[in-house]
Amino acid sequence: MSERLMRGPLLHCLGEPDKDANAVDYQLDALLWIKHGLVHKMGDYDSMVKELTPKQVSRVEDCSQYLMVPGFVDCHIHYPQTEMIAAYGTQLLEWLNTYTFPVESSFKDPVKAAAVSKVFIEQLLTNGTTTALVFCSVHPESVDALFTEAQKHNMRIIAGKVMMDRNAPDKVLDTAQTSYEQSKQLIQRWHGVDRLQYAVTPRFAPTSTDEQLAAAGRLLAEHDGVYLHTHLAENADEIEWVKRLFPKAKNYLDVYDQASLLGKRSVFAHSLHLCDSECERLAQTDSAIAHCPTSNMFIGSGLFPMQKMQQHGIKIGMGTDVGGGTSFNMLQTLADGYKMQQLNGHNLSPEQSFYLATLGGARALDIDDKIGNFVVGKEADFLLLDPNATDLLRFRTSHCEGWRDLLFVLQTLGDDRVIAQTNVMGVSN
Ligand code: GUN
Ligand code: ZN
Repeated sequence: MSERLMRGPLLHCLGEPDKDANAVDYQLDALLWIKHGLVHKMGDYDSMVKELTPKQVSRVEDCSQYLMVPGFVDCHIHYPQTEMIAAYGTQLLEWLNTYTFPVESSFKDPVKAAAVSKVFIEQLLTNGTTTALVFCSVHPESVDALFTEAQKHNMRIIAGKVMMDRNAPDKVLDTAQTSYEQSKQLIQRWHGVDRLQYAVTPRFAPTSTDEQLAAAGRLLAEHDGVYLHTHLAENADEIEWVKRLFPKAKNYLDVYDQASLLGKRSVFAHSLHLCDSECERLAQTDSAIAHCPTSNMFIGSGLFPMQKMQQHGIKIGMGTDVGGGTSFNMLQTLADGYKMQQLNGHNLSPEQSFYLATLGGARALDIDDKIGNFVVGKEADFLLLDPNATDLLRFRTSHCEGWRDLLFVLQTLGDDRVIAQTNVMGVSN
């Protein structure tokens, strides 16, 4: 069926709530009209129903018990780490050596990679995430497996092979040359196929030589529209290590800058401990930050200075960072994001949080012309949220006054049970 008509409450952002008091559009009784996977029209039901034939009216789906929202955008996640989410007791560098590298070494096996890809994509959809920027492992086989699975669901996935040529076990290492060649082949095979896009993915500065970072820069220069995806300034020991490994760099970000890795399609996960000149450079180059609160607290990395980044005008999206992060669920990620800003003395508003998980994420990934809200012509990736999903939610939301209150309660108490339906290009999954 190439047409769907959904009637019910609807909420989306047309701008950034912290900058524009009218950024949120809430409609108590909306009609969302989808044709060929795109938003054909959206507006007040009573005004729009006149345009429908009796047959179309009979096909309108009653969503009055739900809240229609755009699909969530996860700006940083690792699919090979699905099986090691919730690993106990370490901070970043030990966590990588103890849990991460051993698990990722098994993704050369295409059967294994396909099996985990299936679980991973299912988890994204169950949790209402319709777009994600994803780390694979160092093995090209891992990328083929993920894109193949994402393609089956027609999902908008951006992903790439990890590049790492030092400071890790042999089984997860490549070389500057092989990482360049393998990434190039994967770009040719996958970038721009259906809704899939490629991200050049050096893991982080400590596991790449200057030569490999330069190869990443060449890949970006040679291929229009591909992304750069890496980690930045997450942990104190990591930052000290980068200083020792790159003594000539002005700061951590400068390591990437010297390899020409900054730009409007560059996404830097974490970015917790940056100096003013690094923030200015991110803003100048229109680079984005993926903020990953569950991970930052779970691995004990630190508190993200959200307001400072906003003051610098840096684009911010949300990341779950599974398996450093502890949930695939964006509502839970926003709940932890709120608590983290409380510790910073900042009351992050529910509408700004919701923005970060939808339109803000789309802007961070430079695809807000395609997804992020219900503007006519955009791809119809959307969710039905159920305010009555649990006994406690039913009781608590019955006491909500208005959409802002509802949004905050859903974010604070919600999990995958709230995601009643996930739709990708208008199709329910
Ligand atoms: N830094 C380098 N690799 C990783 C990773 O896999 N997860 C996180 N959270 N940080 C990293
Ligand atoms: Zn990460």
